[in-house]
Amino acid sequence: MKKQKTALITGIGGQDGSYLTELLLSKGTKVRGIVRRSSNHNTDRIYHLMKKYGEKKYKDSLFYLQYADLTDASSIRSILDEFQPDEIYNLAAQSHVGVSFNNPISTFDINALGSLRILDAIREMKLNCKYYQASSSEMFGSSPPPQNENTPFMPQSPYGVSKVAAYNTTRMYRNAYGIFASNGILFNHESPRRGINFVTRKITLGIAKILIGEEKIITLGNLDAKRDWGFSKEYVEAIWKILQLPNPDDFVIATEETHSIRDFLREAFLLVGLNYKDFLIISDQYIRPADVPALLGDSTKARKVLDWRPKVKFKKLIHMMLAADIKIKFEESGIVPVDPQNRNSDDFYIEKGIELAQKLKKHQ
Ligand code: NAP
Ligand code: GDD
Repeated sequence: MKKQKTALITGIGGQDGSYLTELLLSKGTKVRGIVRRSSNHNTDRIYHLMKKYGEKKYKDSLFYLQYADLTDASSIRSILDEFQPDEIYNLAAQSHVGVSFNNPISTFDINALGSLRILDAIREMKLNCKYYQASSSEMFGSSPPPQNENTPFMPQSPYGVSKVAAYNTTRMYRNAYGIFASNGILFNHESPRRGINFVTRKITLGIAKILIGEEKIITLGNLDAKRDWGFSKEYVEAIWKILQLPNPDDFVIATEETHSIRDFLREAFLLVGLNYKDFLIISDQYIRPADVPALLGDSTKARKVLDWRPKVKFKKLIHMMLAADIKIKFEESGIVPVDPQNRNSDDFYIEKGIELAQKLKKHQ
């Protein structure tokens, strides 16, 4: 009989961590996650799993959380010693590119040194495990599209530089010490669980707030940058597949479509029949010292080796995210009764959004 696997996820409370946990649990893998101490909830995205599996039960439980921090080497080592994971998914990061210009040193500490702390502990403790590094298309920076595994990295932000360091550390520990260490170079991926200060979610949540009268405008920065946006839930399947291969390797994961921020904004407002130009302010506050102009992934290798193909692309993603945010805002404000069974479809919420947008137009 096959031994039940144990996976350790850093960044388990993040967007990807929450979807990956659901995927691993559905495969019967034991999941151990680290969360860092915060003064406010940072486990909302996995609250449903904490309730289902009982966060306090240890050893026998399929799902267990423990406090640790990627900046604290001793916490990482004791976690590895205690859990003896078969797979480590290193998803924890200061993941906001704009914020990395304000906090370059802590960004590097978490993102670059954090991965080094884990890899060096694996080496020193002689752990027999597979390691996944959450690398990023932000590493390509100003390299012109399309970008694949052979495209040179020209990072444009402290975040990008930190991720290049972690990418190279991962390859170095693979080559020098024979550790099963792989990089997933993931292009932007979003979902209704996306953090609210990333541009896609800022737009969809902003529209929902405008519809209920909570806000009048959305304030953004550079609208001309282009991104290759996919769906997080599908991307964590690629992450899992990368660690199921017999040998470690690096993969670009992307939809192979690119659109500008302006395209996203236009499409999202149009879904409820509004023109984005009536609700937009551009502010220097959101313009970065340097920005990545255009990302477009070429994931031929992932298609061939991992047999991975994304189904959710630009329009479907916007529809899903906008419907989810309209639902949240409608329920909060009591416009539409709470829908705990999730019986109402995404189309239902978009239709309700269109009705409110019509009223908004009349009052303009
Ligand atoms: P996310 O939602 O921002 O989640 C990041 C997680 O890391 C959060 O749970 C955060 O905890 C945790 N974390 C931050 N600093 C930590 C520390 N010092 N010690 C322990 N945990 C810490 O990010 P995501 O979108 O899920 O992305 C997952 C990973 O993929 C990140 O490494 C990101 O850089 C990378 N990536 C993301 C994308 C994308 O488009 N989403 C694309 C390429 C690569 P708190 O909640 O306490 O902050
Ligand atoms: N966040 C944000 N907020 N971005 C804005 C805004 C705004 O108000 N206005 C315009 N933008 C532009 C940014 O300048 C950037 O060009 C683009 O929108 C996307 O910004 P984000 O959504 O913050 O994502 P990102 O591309 O910088 O970084 C994300 O993708 C990377 C992969 O390429 C993050 O998830 C990173 O963690 C990830 O590695």
